[in-house]
Amino acid sequence: MRRLGGLVGVAMIAAASVASAAVDDHIHLGVASCATGVCHGKLAAQQDANVWLNEYRIWSAEDRHARAYLTLGSAESKAMAAKLGLASATTAKICLDCHADNVPAAKRGRKFQLSDGVGCEACHGGAELWIETHTEPNATHADNIAKGLFPSEHPLERAALCLDCHMGGRDRFATHVIMGAGHPRLSFELDAFGINQPAHFAIDDDYVRRKGDVPGFRLWLMGQLVGAQRMLELQSSAWFDRPNGLFPELALYDCQGCHHAMDDRRWSRSLAGPGIDPGTLRLNDDHLRVLLAIMTVLDPEIRESFAEQVQGLIRAGQQSVVAVRTAATKLAGLIEARRDAWRERRFDRATIVAVRQAIVRSAANGELSDYGAAEQAFLAVDSLNIALGDGDRVRRAVDALFETVADDKTFRPDRFVAAARTLLNGL
Ligand code: HEC
Ligand code: HEC
Ligand code: HEC
Ligand code: HEC
Repeated sequence: MRRLGGLVGVAMIAAASVASAAVDDHIHLGVASCATGVCHGKLAAQQDANVWLNEYRIWSAEDRHARAYLTLGSAESKAMAAKLGLASATTAKICLDCHADNVPAAKRGRKFQLSDGVGCEACHGGAELWIETHTEPNATHADNIAKGLFPSEHPLERAALCLDCHMGGRDRFATHVIMGAGHPRLSFELDAFGINQPAHFAIDDDYVRRKGDVPGFRLWLMGQLVGAQRMLELQSSAWFDRPNGLFPELALYDCQGCHHAMDDRRWSRSLAGPGIDPGTLRLNDDHLRVLLAIMTVLDPEIRESFAEQVQGLIRAGQQSVVAVRTAATKLAGLIEARRDAWRERRFDRATIVAVRQAIVRSAANGELSDYGAAEQAFLAVDSLNIALGDGDRVRRAVDALFETVADDKTFRPDRFVAAARTLLNGL
């Protein structure tokens, strides 16, 4: 995993609530339609415009999304395609859906090229109806959205957008068969990945005036909620129920539950929960565990009942696909209610400090010791330190925590717990 880049001040957006949007409603005109020298293809950021206008340069030179399609031609992808019996990864829908802007033929304009990879319109929506008008002096953000610009400033919408490819969704998923062929494990945290994507925009006064402002904490929090919900959706979707398979979809369980050395004894009651025996496979509950820690601060009165539902889900993961669907659907409903309750709430500094403390305490208690949960815990600390601007005094302890999660191959839960304890003492 990677640490956050050097950027600070991840203030973000809070436009009015938006109905669930889609990037593929309108024709995608292709990156070339955005990239000319008079549009988003300038050499350097412009001072006199409200956006930089060098977005194409940044994307094509620095952003891995621009190389997503090229990756499908790499030796690694070729080996994967051969193992999967695919003619080529560059033509397989299952790969293109995440590594390119794979809209149907009828939605591709004249300059559209699949080889552009994850291009502008994969995130900003088909430009068919707004390309001409979005530059008009009177065009408002609301006008653009009405014409199909995706509301990516909105944390819930943005999270759903990124997760489609970085976790999967109803129409695309990197199954354990794909993982078995050699695909890297997927993981995502909205705030951190937003910071790690080379910035092609700045949140300045002008931006806030047009699109509103969402503080980093809110972005991180909404990312946790949508991440938890999306995993539950996948676990209650057809992806989980593999037709003709003895086992349900393994990629929706904890990867390291199966993939770790046998002499590395990690089982503990605090991690497993009541009613879960040693040697039992657990569904992926990384985001749920982080949410439990968050709830100790934001909603202590419902935390116990939420924890029971999470344990119910893990037990359901031993029983049947139907039991998982029931438990996951119920939990997703509870999270929906948290989303509604938290999205409008104001969070003061003391609350953010307490949430960070709660996550580190949960890690120190051994409740976040699955690799994916540990990774989320570390990213949370890193993001919240930036949001609070007070990370310097615990820098050494945070660096030490990072060392324990930096590589999933060398991850040891006991070292992670020890590093979390040290950090907790310093906070
Ligand atoms: C259409 C699919 C798609 C969407 C939507 C998408 N990504 Fe990605 N992203 C990818 C793929 C594929 C890669 C890997 C590209 C490669 O190296 O081949 C990637 C790579 C990245 C990386 C680099 C990862 C690393 O390990 O360094 C970051 C950061 C990232 N995406 C952030 C985001 C964020 C933030 C969003 C939402 C605003 C987002 N992505 C939306 C498909 C997508
Ligand atoms: C659900 C979306 C999804 C699907 C399906 C998918 N990928 Fe990926 N792939 C990603 C994302 C996202 C990344 C970047 C992960 C990261 O760095 O966090 C990635 C990374 C990769 C990488 C590593 C790139 C690097 O340089 O590190 C390769 C190779 C790859 N994918 C090939 C494939 C192939 C081949 C297929 C089809 C068999 C495929 N992928 C299907 C989303 C997907
Ligand atoms: C992986 C997703 C992704 C891709 C690919 C992407 N963007 Fe963005 N872009 C974002 C996000 C997220 C924001 C910040 C939220 C917002 O303002 O919508 C943003 C912001 C912007 C802004 C700033 C808007 C403002 O109001 O200040 C412009 C302009 C922009 N993008 C243009 C482009 C262009 C041109 C391309 C292609 C060369 C591109 N983007 C590719 C995700 C993406
Ligand atoms: C229920 C146990 C289980 C879970 C959970 C699981 N795997 Fe696997 N994994 C296996 C088995 C069994 C194999 C096949 C091993 C073999 O063929 O020798 C395998 C193979 C693999 C391989 C290929 C290894 C090779 O030898 O070529 C990779 C990579 C992999 N898994 C990644 C993952 C990832 C990533 C996850 C989580 C998203 C995951 N696995 C979850 C059991 C599991």
